Amino acid sequence: MVSEPLPLKTSLKKKFALYLGSGMMIVLAAIFFWVYQQVKKGIYDQLDQQARSLLQQVIITRLWVADHGGLFVRQQPGGRPNPFLEDTEIYDRDGNTYLYQNPAMVTREISEYASRKGLYKFRLTSLKLKNPSNAPLPFEKEALLQFKELGFEQASQGISLVGEENGKPVYRLIIPLRVETSCLKCHADQRYTEGEVRGGLSVTIPMGNTVRIIRQNQLYFILSGVLITFCVLAGLYYLLNILVLSPLGHLYGVGQQLLAGKYTAKSDIHSKDEFEALSCAFNDMTDKLLEGYEGTIRSLMAAVDARDPYTKGHTARVGHYSLQIGKEMGLDDELLAEIRIGAILHDVGKIGIPDEILLKDSALTDEERAEIQSHVSKGVEIVGDVEFLQCIIPAVLYHHERIDGNGYPDGLKKEHLPLISRIIAVADTFDAMTTDRPYSKAVSKAHAIHEIEKNAGTQFDHEVVAAFVKVLRSDTT
Ligand SMILES: [Fe+2]
Repeated sequence: MVSEPLPLKTSLKKKFALYLGSGMMIVLAAIFFWVYQQVKKGIYDQLDQQARSLLQQVIITRLWVADHGGLFVRQQPGGRPNPFLEDTEIYDRDGNTYLYQNPAMVTREISEYASRKGLYKFRLTSLKLKNPSNAPLPFEKEALLQFKELGFEQASQGISLVGEENGKPVYRLIIPLRVETSCLKCHADQRYTEGEVRGGLSVTIPMGNTVRIIRQNQLYFILSGVLITFCVLAGLYYLLNILVLSPLGHLYGVGQQLLAGKYTAKSDIHSKDEFEALSCAFNDMTDKLLEGYEGTIRSLMAAVDARDPYTKGHTARVGHYSLQIGKEMGLDDELLAEIRIGAILHDVGKIGIPDEILLKDSALTDEERAEIQSHVSKGVEIVGDVEFLQCIIPAVLYHHERIDGNGYPDGLKKEHLPLISRIIAVADTFDAMTTDRPYSKAVSKAHAIHEIEKNAGTQFDHEVVAAFVKVLRSDTT
């Protein structure tokens, strides 16, 4: 028995989507996350470098101011002398006032200018204050304590962090300041000693633009990841479909046709790869199988011919006539193959008829005739259990039926008679009439045709008879 095709619980398409798709998404997500982190780190490094450059610029400015003993600058509206220093005002001949600016004051003024421009802010701060407005912020205080503990060399790289100021993200960097000789002028009373860490210089840079770039990059990375995953998967799926699924589906379809008894089905793959080789092997295997079938058919045909020497060659001739009728009627290859085999084996049941009845050359009794007629059911018993011969059972069982319903074994009329049995009935009768039998002599082909045409519409099918007549006429022309 032919088993039903197994349902595909997990198709290659599902496996592809499940394993390759999820695997690719995980790998690509990991790669993109790593690249994104590197880009983010690069942006922060750049920000850090910017902060350090700014601080170095301020330190250089401070040094320059300190090396020159401070500056006297013309008093601006609202400008006031430093209350923590003495002798901070001078005047010129025109009555203009000049105020003394030490490095700390210059630093603050530059910071205020930059802050007003929305760029960045500097702060000079210390744990020991002279000016209360330089009091360290919490972050700066913690950093100054660490600087003090580590010393200048260990803490020279400073401390940075990403924080918030007025609800907006900022980048902060504070580096230690070493007491220079020039510092002692203002801070001698605080017992400063040269080289020690007494304060720090911090810079605060707005990060709004940086955060926007990072988020933009994050979005680009996610979109790129999704797009690349989709494109790669689509490309791979296309290749999988062309290279694997399509030929596999073709082979599966041919296999199903063969299982359904369509033995003319052939695989037709020309991919010039392993699938073409598999297709050839598949066809070779089918040919071998068909050769085995053909051998079985020929063996049965030989067995039938051997049982009745008078009808030797009858099965082959009926096969030939039936095939020609089928071709004349324009039947497809599959049905023609069934007709050929059915015609060859239509009398296979005669193997089971006793010699004394089968070879009797005198008139048969009713019992003997019934025994002879039983060859159709005996034939079905012989081929009934052979899978590839299931298709010829109608030919074996009904080739003695008549379209008027007066045949045997079931008395079926035309509308219930398969075409294969109607064709074989004509071919079988013609060959029986035109060959010598123990109980009758052969008649001429013309006479046989005449008789068959006369019985068209009662014993035989009109269309089949018409096709057969055409075949015989074309054979003789
Ligand atoms: Fe027969």
